[in-house]
Amino acid sequence: MESADRLLSMDLRAGDDDWSPTPHGHWLAQMIAESDLVRGRDVLELGAGVANHTILIHRKGAASIVATEITEELLVTAQANFERNCGEDAEIEFRVADWLSTPGRFDTVVSNPPFCQSGKQNRRYFIDSLILDAHKRLRPLGELIFIQSSMADFGETERLMDRNGFDVEVVGTTSGPFRDYYFEDQRFMEEIEGVEGAYELRDGFYHEHLRVYRGRLREWAPHTNAHLPGRT
Ligand SMILES: C[S@@+](CC[C@H](N)C(=O)[O-])C[C@H]1O[C@@H](n2cnc3c(N)ncnc32)[C@H](O)[C@@H]1O
Repeated sequence: MESADRLLSMDLRAGDDDWSPTPHGHWLAQMIAESDLVRGRDVLELGAGVANHTILIHRKGAASIVATEITEELLVTAQANFERNCGEDAEIEFRVADWLSTPGRFDTVVSNPPFCQSGKQNRRYFIDSLILDAHKRLRPLGELIFIQSSMADFGETERLMDRNGFDVEVVGTTSGPFRDYYFEDQRFMEEIEGVEGAYELRDGFYHEHLRVYRGRLREWAPHTNAHLPGRT
């Protein structure tokens, strides 16, 4: 088996407007590298950024990959990085898409969803959306894999996943110091005061915890008289 270090070694290039990987992205990558979460699976990756996970998903032997970004410009970076690291002939489809608004059914949805800088009134919007709607992109028994900070409320995520038909497993946890930009958003700093276990102070320094979640859709069928015209 290839070592995680080798799998994680890549030549990534990014412009000023691209999302350069943070500790969240690094930890999700570590968990994908050390596991068989994507091997042999049809994977939809949402918000590919600079393709740090896309490259890894390919290297870990996904059966197919669809990788998305919100704009064409961001997707160009992802595609260039992917081709530089995986070759121009590697099978993949890149799509501009607004989160889950893209067609198809997949075995696995993978994401590092925006949170602190989600730009939404409900900062958890992209996490909530994944939990509520990923089933529309997943095949029966499909899996949702994503990373989340303690600041986004682990308890809320686990309750919501259970309520929406996912068996929840924590693939891996880690922790690390706050990023500088957290402190620059006063409202964010106020919001996290209302979240149980949002952070830990170590020697006076703020630390967040990170969890990679694996949600497996439970077997389920709507009751035969359910009012479901579209059946999704
Ligand atoms: C936290 S970054 C993660 C990037 C990369 N996957 C990583 O882990 O380093 C979130 C990514 O989602 C993208 N994004 C934001 N809103 C989106 C949307 N509505 N649909 C698809 N992608 C979106 C951003 O451009 C950004 O690249």
